[in-house]
Amino acid sequence: MKPPRILVTGANGQIGSELVAELRRRYGKSNILASDIFQPEDVIEPFGIINILDNERLRQVVEQQEVTQIYHLAAILSAKGEQNPLQTWEINMQGLFNILEAAKDFKIDKVFFPSSIAVFGNNTPAINTPQHTVAEPATVYGMSKLAGENWCQYYNKKYDLDIRSVRYPGIIGHGQKPGGGTTDYAVEIYHKAVDKEDFECFLSENTALPMLYMEDAINGTIDIMEAPADKIKVRTSYNLAGMSFTPAEVYAEIQKHYPDFKMTYKPDFRQAIADSWTDSIDDSAARNDWGWQPKYDLTKMTEDMIMHLKEKRGV
Ligand code: SER
Repeated sequence: MKPPRILVTGANGQIGSELVAELRRRYGKSNILASDIFQPEDVIEPFGIINILDNERLRQVVEQQEVTQIYHLAAILSAKGEQNPLQTWEINMQGLFNILEAAKDFKIDKVFFPSSIAVFGNNTPAINTPQHTVAEPATVYGMSKLAGENWCQYYNKKYDLDIRSVRYPGIIGHGQKPGGGTTDYAVEIYHKAVDKEDFECFLSENTALPMLYMEDAINGTIDIMEAPADKIKVRTSYNLAGMSFTPAEVYAEIQKHYPDFKMTYKPDFRQAIADSWTDSIDDSAARNDWGWQPKYDLTKMTEDMIMHLKEKRGV
């Protein structure tokens, strides 16, 4: 079978950079076109600069490169989004519309759209949040993801576009750092511990949030895209869970490796965002429909994170 020709937007980001590497491993380097608004110094070709709001350029690339699948990761995250709500809406929504229209017009086989736990809000059941539930997001990022999910379902029903989506929890990985999210503390804390520096956490100690290790996130993302279409019964977005922990819990886990590591708490505006999100997620629909199964818990993830970060620093 001919391998897919895949365009990834937001490819320089925390998830994008890892996803591109894994897609290239599976489908061949030349079949994966990475794109972002700037070219990184250590660029691996094929790479193209695409501003997701530049519709003409996007359509030109999709057509000329004979793209058959799109992973649309470009977006502004929760915390950063609050600094400029209207611009965030424009980038997250118009960007998605440009992708959806190009996918429809050029008859793209499959599209991936990442949603988030940010679609949930203060009125959502916080423990084991169900797949179908109250979703009244507190951030413009969450509003854009919720609207995006519904637009994806709309394009699926109306135009038969095969678009698939998951609601990512906080993603933790040792590669590219995240930018502008509320769950970013759970990445930074590992860097500080390995660098033997103190860490000031911007969330309070008992703020539980759903989290997922990068390796699980990447496998789940490609798995949902590879699943037979009839297995994908939710056409808004699937709940996805890995683990759930508080800053105090990840701190204690890291202290098993670094007993002298010190963390203090200084909650800022991101506390209110975290408080509006749920504590843990029921992902049984993803497990039952297309076989989602994460491998990492907090203990295993912590061992792996520390091992890789030490390796990178040569310590
Ligand atoms: N990790 C994201 C954020 O914190 C949630 O999707 O914004």
